[in-house]
Amino acid sequence: MDKIQILDKKFKLFIPYEKLDAAIDKVASELNNDFKECDDVPVMLCVLNGSIMFMSELMKRVNFDCQLISIKLSSYEGTQTSGKVKQAMGLTSSIEGRRVIIVEDIVDTGHTIVELERILKEKGASRTYVCTMLHKPEAAQVDVKLDYVAMDIPNKFIVGFGLDYNELGRNYKDIYVLDEQ
Ligand code: IMP
Ligand code: MG
Repeated sequence: MDKIQILDKKFKLFIPYEKLDAAIDKVASELNNDFKECDDVPVMLCVLNGSIMFMSELMKRVNFDCQLISIKLSSYEGTQTSGKVKQAMGLTSSIEGRRVIIVEDIVDTGHTIVELERILKEKGASRTYVCTMLHKPEAAQVDVKLDYVAMDIPNKFIVGFGLDYNELGRNYKDIYVLDEQ
């Protein structure tokens, strides 16, 4: 499908699944290199809901022992970030003393990562890493260190592969961008 409609908005194909797949292969092998034969069991932290597709693809590829833990945050209203990051569900397990790899769908303004790192520090993580599928460098409002990035994209609103517009569109296998004309 080249074009889709979600509620009042039209979107066009932007990143086909094949490209995402190859980009995820690349970050997964970086993770495998960096965490191979580690003595601890790092936490892979799924930031719900947006990261579920990326997380499931990563989990099929990583080959070190890791524990899947989730948390739910939200900041978007429609196609704009509200600037306020709300915690909708706390951590599903303790991360005390653990190394935590934050798995995000997308880093936009960076506020979510700042808030996550604050929560993880408060809950006793020994170290945090950020692994994101997508990154919008032009949208940055705060400085965040990203350890693993599958793909950089321009500052445009997208849906699909976990990402939503008002909770819809997460189920598309490809990524679509807002079609402004
Ligand atoms: P940040 O706090 O501004 O970096 O935004 C991070 C969160 O906003 C992401 O985890 C997404 O859930 C959501 N988000 C950012 N950009 C988009 C987009 O283009 N489409 C859908 N959701 C987005
Ligand atoms: Mg998210």
